Amino acid sequence: MTRTETAILDRIGRDEPEAFVQELLARMTLPEKVGQLNLVNGQGGHVGDDLAAHVREGRVGAVLNEVDPATVNELQRLAVDESRLGIPLLVGRDVIHGFRTVFPIPLAQACSWDPEVVRQGARVAALEAASRGVNWTFAPMVDIGRDPRWGRVAECLGEDPHLASILAAAMVEGFQGEDLSDPGSLAACAKHFAGYGASESGKDYASTNIPERELRSVHLPPFRAAADAGVASFMASFSDLDGIPASANHFLMTQVLRQEWDFRGFVVSDWDSIPQLTVHGLTRGPRGAAREAAMAGVDMDMAGWTYLSHLGELVESGDVPAERLDEMVAAVLRVKLRLGLFDHPWTNPAAFPAPGNPDHRAAAREAAIRSTVLLKNEGSLLPLSPGNLTRLSVIGPLADEPHEQLGTWIFDGDPSLSTTPLQALRESSEGRFAVRYVRGLETTRDRSHDGFHEAVAAAEEADVAILFLGEEAILSGEAHCRADISLPGAQEDLIRAVAATRTPVVVVLMAGRPLALESVVEEVDALLCAWHPGTEAGPALADLLFGVRSPSGKLAATFPRVTGQVPIYYAHRNTGKPVSPESWTHMDHLPRGAPQLSAGMTSFHMDTHFTPLFPFGHGLSYTRFEYSGLTLDRHEVPVDRAVGVYVQVTNAGARRGTEVVQLYVRDPVASVTRPVRELKAFRRVELEPGETRTVRFVLHASQLAFPGRNMRSVVEPGRIQVWVGGSSEASLGSEFELVEKTPPTEAESA
Ligand code: BGC
Repeated sequence: MTRTETAILDRIGRDEPEAFVQELLARMTLPEKVGQLNLVNGQGGHVGDDLAAHVREGRVGAVLNEVDPATVNELQRLAVDESRLGIPLLVGRDVIHGFRTVFPIPLAQACSWDPEVVRQGARVAALEAASRGVNWTFAPMVDIGRDPRWGRVAECLGEDPHLASILAAAMVEGFQGEDLSDPGSLAACAKHFAGYGASESGKDYASTNIPERELRSVHLPPFRAAADAGVASFMASFSDLDGIPASANHFLMTQVLRQEWDFRGFVVSDWDSIPQLTVHGLTRGPRGAAREAAMAGVDMDMAGWTYLSHLGELVESGDVPAERLDEMVAAVLRVKLRLGLFDHPWTNPAAFPAPGNPDHRAAAREAAIRSTVLLKNEGSLLPLSPGNLTRLSVIGPLADEPHEQLGTWIFDGDPSLSTTPLQALRESSEGRFAVRYVRGLETTRDRSHDGFHEAVAAAEEADVAILFLGEEAILSGEAHCRADISLPGAQEDLIRAVAATRTPVVVVLMAGRPLALESVVEEVDALLCAWHPGTEAGPALADLLFGVRSPSGKLAATFPRVTGQVPIYYAHRNTGKPVSPESWTHMDHLPRGAPQLSAGMTSFHMDTHFTPLFPFGHGLSYTRFEYSGLTLDRHEVPVDRAVGVYVQVTNAGARRGTEVVQLYVRDPVASVTRPVRELKAFRRVELEPGETRTVRFVLHASQLAFPGRNMRSVVEPGRIQVWVGGSSEASLGSEFELVEKTPPTEAESA
């Protein structure tokens, strides 16, 4: 920036952001404006001449995938000191569930039902990434994931709009900190707007067809929550939504995001998703693609170079109004200003806590403990008591894999920091019992039974066999989708072989998605779902297996019995022919020559049970919780008021434990059909043995709003059912009546 310009901008001051942005905009040439909208890939630890020239000449507004601090500082120096206007760069990176210290995958974190865990994970990640010069993360990913074939369910916050909304806001707060201009804060990016999770057949990048009511009720709420939490940016999805790919979707990017939600940050495309509009068949070439994206409301072009090549000419020819270009640039400049980049563009790693330090690892360990879900615990096999063990056999391809336990999207994760379950179990044995490790299978995909003999021998001589099974990191994440979500390779056979020894079997599942385990679940005494728990997998799992801590995670996504049940989620609508235990008929029970109408004529598959294997919200602990005394503080609730819901929760077991108390509702008669249950509130409650606590929820009638027939949000008077309990199958229920607004009192009207 020239001295004069700096002086002008200094006079305006950063406390008048809009004036600052407008003043800067007024000084920019057309190519400089377009340059701000160009997000380019870094070159991996150096700045080549071509990139340097682009930055110097103002053709680049943001860089991604550059995490070497000296290189980032060099790029910022070129932008700030050598470009005409001296505008600093955004430096983006996929910091999804940790940076150097890796936290559990987001789907796992969602199973903590603990916004503090999520906020803290993002905070640590932000500090570590910021120390490397990153100032913008492509997270949180808040797509609703109801199809576990889709590899990206690992990155999402589960199947439920309410849970995902609460956690999305927490993640934004964690990344962005209290003040986005603090050097340890990252601008967050809510992605992928919108509906990407509904990709057909769970195949990445596939089309989505989501009716507007479903979009507004299920897919949009977590994005709204991120926007309300002040998220700095949004990312357009790759997917085609009902014929209009997100990157050209004016309804999403402008009508909903800007006009309805008043979002003031900027929208970035996904990688190359602007030129891909041509591949979708929407435009003839990149010029048209640039125009469609710009006019839809996409402000920045990730890696496509399409805006750089065409936007200037589109503005000159009037195909994109100059005002639209100014809006796009202003949105980007505002975020740079909020980040404080004009004042401190540089990073100084020494000013930050060291990545991977003990505090960060302690936070990752706590997150892994709280994210793990105890799905089954026959005969209270868990926790294991070290005093009663002589030999423990540890089996499986994931017991000692420092890299695999980190999961997907860990560009910057450091496997050398990982403590594996095997290492931690050996350490916790303290010589009191022997630990024998047999891999059994080379990888989770290995089909060979060659290692079974040794695994069986180890199990035979042990008091307990713990199998670490599931999926390697590479089996989930972007573009890593599966058509069959049972355990890959010969893992099911390995379970059967080990179970046949009659030694009690614990399976610790390490995976990036819910798996279909019906055919082996009966073989297993205890099943602990740890997902990909991150750096601290070992210590966290050892704490849980030995009862130092009790599991408290609850499923944020349903576990199907078999893949063919997918999508299966608790908040489905009732249909006109809902299944019941009486009407369900398994095909094995149909007699030979049965008449066509012999099966129950209700909604189910004939070759599996109609329920999921483990429902949403399910998760056991080492103690037992009982619910009683559900009461409401009123039974008639005006549509503009709230109702207090009280329930008593008792720890009826002998150990301390944490329960996630969940509140569900149903609107049984409405102008459009509503889900059979919807989560509306939850709370984590820690209870000592024998302790009873009254938990109070305040349910506001506005939380019962839904898009009515005309798509406008309505709260309709009528009966509302309520359940409170420890899963989506909670049976303790009550109900109230939503009634018309209370007329204002005289005092209120006066
Ligand atoms: C993904 C985004 C990611 C971007 C940048 C894309 O392929 O869909 O989620 O942020 O790459 O790495």
